[in-house]
Amino acid sequence: MSPLLDIEGLRIDIPGHAGLLRAIRGISFSIGEGESFAIVGESGCGKSLTAMSVLGLLPRSAVLSAETMSWKNQDMRMFGRRQWSHLHGLGIAAIFQEPMTALNPVLPIGDQMIESFLHHRLGNRRAALSRAGELLERVGVVPVERRLRQYPHEMSGGLRQRVMIAMALMCRPNLMIADEPTTALDVTTQVEILALLKELQADTGMALMLITHDLGVVAHVADRMAVMYAGEIVETGSVASVLTRPAHPYTSALLSCLPTRGQPLIPIPGVVPALIGELQGCIFRNRCGFAMPDCASQVPEREVAPGHAYRCLLARDDSGSTTDSSAAPLEAFQ
Ligand SMILES: Nc1ncnc2c1ncn2[C@@H]1O[C@H](COP(=O)(O)OP(=O)(O)O)[C@@H](O)[C@H]1O
Ligand SMILES: [Mg+2]
Repeated sequence: MSPLLDIEGLRIDIPGHAGLLRAIRGISFSIGEGESFAIVGESGCGKSLTAMSVLGLLPRSAVLSAETMSWKNQDMRMFGRRQWSHLHGLGIAAIFQEPMTALNPVLPIGDQMIESFLHHRLGNRRAALSRAGELLERVGVVPVERRLRQYPHEMSGGLRQRVMIAMALMCRPNLMIADEPTTALDVTTQVEILALLKELQADTGMALMLITHDLGVVAHVADRMAVMYAGEIVETGSVASVLTRPAHPYTSALLSCLPTRGQPLIPIPGVVPALIGELQGCIFRNRCGFAMPDCASQVPEREVAPGHAYRCLLARDDSGSTTDSSAAPLEAFQ
């Protein structure tokens, strides 16, 4: 069966004062019906731009190219305004980190919830309000009658995110994109919202594209994942395989950053390079403990297991340890 969303060789360039920012450089991924796919990486690695490209909402100056970019086998690169609008209402819904920016502060929740349902002519106002009520009840924003009349500022951050989720479900999307949906919330609320997303996914059969910098969230919610670093996918595979047998040094570094109980987070040393001009070789090499001279020119794609791939010069054996005896710390070459 062909995937719902199929992206191959996606590139996004953004012109700026310092030159052309090569923000996304040839990433590929697909999301199947009902699947839960996570994109994880540090801030600034291109997660939101990737989401925005799938939503057709890139900044005006951004230049997109791709070998394949298809939604249900339709070429998204050929979409006009009508098709994007159709996709937003009926195919892909999105929720973001800060629901306050996505909600209209001067419109009652009920009116906002029914807008796209009415726009896409899925029923009359009564049917729309009835669906909005059912969904609010389902996400735990009660009592429904009162909540429908409230304004966003009358609710807590957690409740607003629940409203956003309910609103995103109004037109029965096939895919929900959730870009850091819990980052702005306290820990208890985060857990509740993630559990809710998982339940709703099971109820509705929709697919989920979950964007996060938190590997704990990935382990909790996703089936498959991609690890992004500086505009590239450096490792991808099933969550079980990637988290237990990380092969790319960046994935390993992210995993070692996970705070164990009571321990502070260990930051990865070094900085993300500027993504301007010609970029050659492995983009992580200036922060990698295993970098060697050839990393400046070669980045082969390797497989750990079927469906679990990574881009690195280092071969890994089944135990996940490095087998390339020529690997040495970067300092050896400086
Ligand atoms: N509208 C924009 N104009 C210029 N640069 C942008 C814009 N949006 C994002 N970028 C740049 O693209 C890169 C990726 O950003 P983003 O996708 O927001 O990262 P993430 O969501 O992973 O934190 C960053 O270097 C960021 O500065
Ligand atoms: Mg982001």
